[in-house]
Amino acid sequence: MAEKSKYDQFKGQARLPKFAVPKRYDLNLKPDLSACKFSGSVHISVDIVADTNLIVLNAADLLIHTNSVSFKDHSGSKVLQAVEVELFAEDEIAVVEFPESLSRGVGVLTMSFEGTLNDKMKGFYRSVYQHEGEKKNMAVTQFEPADARRCFPCWDEPAFKATFKITLEVPSELVALSNMPVSKERVNGHTKTVSYQESPIMSTYLVAVVVGLFDYVEDHTSDGVKVRVYCQIGKASEGRFALNVAVKTLDLYKEYFAVPYSLPKLDMIAIPDFAAGAMENYGLVTYRETALLYDEKQSAASNKQRVAIVVAHELAHQWFGNLVTMEWWTHLWLNEGFATWVAHLAAHSLFPDWNIWTQFLEESTEGLRLDGLAESHPIEVEINHACEIDEIFDAISYRKGASVIRMLQSYLGPECFQRALASYIKKHACSNAKTEDLWSVLEEESGEPVTKLMASWTKQQGYPVVSVTVKDQKLEFDQSQFLLSGAKGDGQWIVPITLSCGSYDTCKNFLLQSPHESFDLKEFLGCSISCGSSEGTGKEECSWIKLNVDQTGFYRVKYDDNLARRLGYAIEKKHLSATDRFGILDDSLALCMACQLPLSSLLTLMGAYREEDDYTVLSNLINTCHKITRIAADAAPELLHDIKQYFIDLFKYPAEKLGWDSKEGEGHLNCMLRGELLTALAQFGHDSTHNEATRRFQAILGDWNTPLLPPDLRKAAYVAIMRNVSTTNRTGLESLLRLYRETDRSQEKTRILGCLGSCSDNDVVLEVLNFLLSPEVRSQDAVFGLSVGIKGREIAWTWLKENWDHIMKTWGSGFLLTRFVSATVSPFASIEKAKEAEEFFAKRAKPSIARTLKQSIERVHINANWVQSIKNETQLSETVKGLASRKY
Ligand code: BES
Ligand code: ZN
Repeated sequence: MAEKSKYDQFKGQARLPKFAVPKRYDLNLKPDLSACKFSGSVHISVDIVADTNLIVLNAADLLIHTNSVSFKDHSGSKVLQAVEVELFAEDEIAVVEFPESLSRGVGVLTMSFEGTLNDKMKGFYRSVYQHEGEKKNMAVTQFEPADARRCFPCWDEPAFKATFKITLEVPSELVALSNMPVSKERVNGHTKTVSYQESPIMSTYLVAVVVGLFDYVEDHTSDGVKVRVYCQIGKASEGRFALNVAVKTLDLYKEYFAVPYSLPKLDMIAIPDFAAGAMENYGLVTYRETALLYDEKQSAASNKQRVAIVVAHELAHQWFGNLVTMEWWTHLWLNEGFATWVAHLAAHSLFPDWNIWTQFLEESTEGLRLDGLAESHPIEVEINHACEIDEIFDAISYRKGASVIRMLQSYLGPECFQRALASYIKKHACSNAKTEDLWSVLEEESGEPVTKLMASWTKQQGYPVVSVTVKDQKLEFDQSQFLLSGAKGDGQWIVPITLSCGSYDTCKNFLLQSPHESFDLKEFLGCSISCGSSEGTGKEECSWIKLNVDQTGFYRVKYDDNLARRLGYAIEKKHLSATDRFGILDDSLALCMACQLPLSSLLTLMGAYREEDDYTVLSNLINTCHKITRIAADAAPELLHDIKQYFIDLFKYPAEKLGWDSKEGEGHLNCMLRGELLTALAQFGHDSTHNEATRRFQAILGDWNTPLLPPDLRKAAYVAIMRNVSTTNRTGLESLLRLYRETDRSQEKTRILGCLGSCSDNDVVLEVLNFLLSPEVRSQDAVFGLSVGIKGREIAWTWLKENWDHIMKTWGSGFLLTRFVSATVSPFASIEKAKEAEEFFAKRAKPSIARTLKQSIERVHINANWVQSIKNETQLSETVKGLASRKY
């Protein structure tokens, strides 16, 4: 049994006690890059607001020197030495005891400490880079959500905002950056002491320090904020694109939020080892290289878009998150959902030809996908321990969060919404806010019952499926909770329903507030609908009805057969917008997975997309095809060949239209589309795509600049090459690995890693998986190689079990670990496998993967149900044969 301590009252608490409140940190850090250690000291101005002789704050993996800990009271005349500093590793807190009560008012707590520059990509860590052929360490911080405590003792919760005055002692030849501009620099032989200006008040998770060798490019905003992009020596030009996006985005947000950027400078920097995609540290935003660097010749259009979106996202946080901060992690979505949504707003303004709001549906659908699980969670989620925070940086906080914001914006109207946001920012600037604070501003501005409406979306998990039927010239609406398991949940929502009928000129909207509602068709829409043919002849006949117009609502729609048939026809006739075409396909796939729509109906509907040309819709069609081939491998292996043939036929037409070579002045979306179509054709086994891909692949082996294989085409070629690799024919694999080793661009490395698993030879798959654990793959990148296809899932699962200890050692303390679990468990489709996974992890339980594990196991059950339902479909074989043999 654990020993009892007199400080037990502070253990197992979700949050720190509030009897001492930090106001200002004067922080000194001295990293030792070669020994991978650091030492530091901190003077914290703390307001003592209750009688106490104890101070409780966060600290983890730090050595605190008890004799360095003292408290000087507000008068400055009395200094108390701490009698004891006890660290509680599990709770990540330090309890400091003084011999007598601390006097009230603002005193100064002083402590010195030491720590390790770890290689876990969190806290104060080291990242490794090459310089002039030599390996070097840089020192980097990553504090969100709760790792500032690994660098210095602090009140490491978002609501304890304070100012920071930082000083670094570093080798004089290195670049040393922090949140604020340098105020003073003193060189002393081989080291220099760099002091930074004091920051405005901010949360600990936004504090940042980077020390290493870097080049930069620089520009400034229209009101003179200096913006820099730092990257590897010699690669500064790759920062230009992100720099341009940043400068324009800062100007845009200043106008949108009606508040200027609040710091005198903004630095953005590429870090070679980085767990997340990017981190919005106030004034010093850190990025993975792939999310910041763009090379005209070596980056794909998708890389470019990623850079723009990530930059716009992190800069949105400078307002939403940094200036106004969530009060507690329960409201994390206020940060992440908003930044995700606002990033699209900025990207749309900067790059109108990207159709970014159509692409936004890929975010929504990922939100719907996760939230269709019983093991999902509400947007506002209870957090009881720091180790639970990592797991909620998920599709619920980001994607559902962004989607419900979009839903609300389209309900209230963009102008009203913007005015409310500006007043929210102004009202809570330099402070903290909760979800309700946002709703009340929106409610005030709009006069609508926003709090009540939105509570149903953020306080309860899940979302509804709205069923629409026409019966006796009545339009009937039913809502029930949609679950991918096919079960009916008992949630109820206030659903902002929109619908168009026959044309987008008629658009109706209302709030569906009850489980069932019905309208007289004629009265409601001024038209009728016959049960017969899909082409109405009568003047008043409405040819189609589409709910959730433009897919701005976060719900699914299930149409009766008659309405569904009419929509299929409207898709074929190109009467519907791309967003609506996307929505109909996506809802149908979800209903099919939940065993509420036969696979044969879904496959037939997909035929209506034969002449589809929209990037996002086609990309979603491709994803749908992959899901179907994966499930069919279990449910109907005898039909797999024909199903693939049908899919190849679907994509041949748009692929032929685009050709392999890009055309002068061709748009961004076509560049991305070409790559995706050719990759899909390669994956489904289209011979001539394979041959051409193989031919072009040869050209890149001697020349990265070959016009035959520009970056947009490489994935297709890499996949094609890997599909032909086997134990007896390893040339393709060896060539790809050679390219991997040759390039120093991380976009290229991840592109290659993402394709290595596309091989159908299991020995090779195993070799690839082992490669992921080798020192040649940075630990940030291993997860990209985990998608190994349905044939490789057994190998991957066995591999995971055998390597679990090693995987835990390397990734066990970060959120990337969840990816290992979901990637290897969720592809299965049988109850037995679900059990096996449960048993394996029963002895290896860990709170930081608990949610992911449950979700992955639920997916296995969902797959198993889906397989059963497909096996019971009597029509399927005939439908597939019919579709596959049809010539167009
Ligand atoms: N605040 C996050 C970074 C983060 C993620 C910190 C997880 C701690 C845990 C950052 O703003 C972010 O959301 N980054 C995204 C990229 C974005 C474009 C969706 C990421 O890291 O993927
Ligand atoms: Zn974010």
